[in-house]
Amino acid sequence: MAADPDATMTAAATMHHGGPDATEIRHDWPMPFAGPGELLVRITAAALNNTDIWSREGAYGSPEDPTAIAGWKGVPLEFPRIQGIDVAGVVEAVGDSVPSHWIGRRVLVDPTVRYAGEFPVDLIGTEADGGFAEFHVCALSRAHDVSDSPLTDAQLACLPTAYGTAMGMINRAGCSPGERVLVTGSSGGVGSAAIQLLSDRGCHVVARTSPDKAADVERWGAHEVSVRGADELGQLAEVDAAVDVVGGEEFPALVDRLRDGGRLVFAGAIAGPMVTLDLRRVYLRQRRLIGSTMHTPQDFAELARVATEGGVRPHVAEVFALEDLHTAQERFARRDFFGKLVVAPNGTDAALSSGWTPTVTRC
Ligand SMILES: NC(=O)c1ccc[n+]([C@@H]2O[C@H](COP(=O)([O-])OP(=O)(O)OC[C@H]3O[C@@H](n4cnc5c(N)ncnc54)[C@H](OP(=O)(O)O)[C@@H]3O)[C@@H](O)[C@H]2O)c1
Repeated sequence: MAADPDATMTAAATMHHGGPDATEIRHDWPMPFAGPGELLVRITAAALNNTDIWSREGAYGSPEDPTAIAGWKGVPLEFPRIQGIDVAGVVEAVGDSVPSHWIGRRVLVDPTVRYAGEFPVDLIGTEADGGFAEFHVCALSRAHDVSDSPLTDAQLACLPTAYGTAMGMINRAGCSPGERVLVTGSSGGVGSAAIQLLSDRGCHVVARTSPDKAADVERWGAHEVSVRGADELGQLAEVDAAVDVVGGEEFPALVDRLRDGGRLVFAGAIAGPMVTLDLRRVYLRQRRLIGSTMHTPQDFAELARVATEGGVRPHVAEVFALEDLHTAQERFARRDFFGKLVVAPNGTDAALSSGWTPTVTRC
């Protein structure tokens, strides 16, 4: 069936940098179509992330001016833009050269539209259109077939950013079965993902968390809990590796918890980016510090495999209709939930199930 150039869809279109009003719910947005080598995905679930808000606000600043209105690359975004970096859905149609057996498959979409080597440089939601719409077009190489996963589509949509980042950290640190690994910020998006992925890999996970989150992180699969504000890091037995998104004043103590030759991988600094570190504590003990951002194509493929095998179980706090995106983002800002918030552009039934009946065939 040929693509209809006049077809429209519902989309949340962000028209400029600014507050929530910068994003409009439109029912007349041009429907994308799959070109050669591409898939048209009917989006069943798209998860919310901090980057949606910070990108809309232009809150990243630039290297020269931290107060500049800019996206994550230090320059303003191009508009209009459909935001939403975390996408799961079902293939509705395929472009030329894509085998038709893809139609009807459930897919997890790699948010990276362009890698430089193994590093992400362009992402959906910022440099290309993302998941806050009924449909999304992606290259076949970015679609990972997760049809056999026991996860709902809403759970799948929780994976790309948080679990992709955690997978990237774990692989860069070379965490292997049986190793003792410390995770900080462990009740958060990346931290809770790291707990589950490490536990699935057969590591012994020590979770550093705040007092009221101890039970939650044990539910995620932590084998030991170290409570921030109560347990000194120095009391912990040494670890083979540490996975850190917190930084701040505990960073030097984390370094000191590594065994000789241990690895500390870090991807965030939620408690503060400036740290004072005695470098002798690193080199005299053969320790390694590893910076990490997001995932490589191989990390993402591994994540899709783990999701298919049911090795992770993301917690979905609430599913909203796409039309209620503003309400969802208000709740996101209140942080009065545990897990992820998800919008369902094709209805909550589709987000909470694992199947979809395709209606269109070939563009
Ligand atoms: N580089 C990348 O690719 C990448 C990707 C995603 C996120 N990030 C960064 O990673 C960090 C965490 O992201 P997230 O999505 O996991 O955030 P999140 O869901 O908000 O969780 C952050 C967690 O950190 C802990 N925390 C918060 N404030 C803290 C403080 N002052 N001191 C110590 N711990 C504190 C809390 O966990 P506990 O109560 O359990 O300690 C909180 O749940 C952010 O800085 C984010 O920008 C980086």
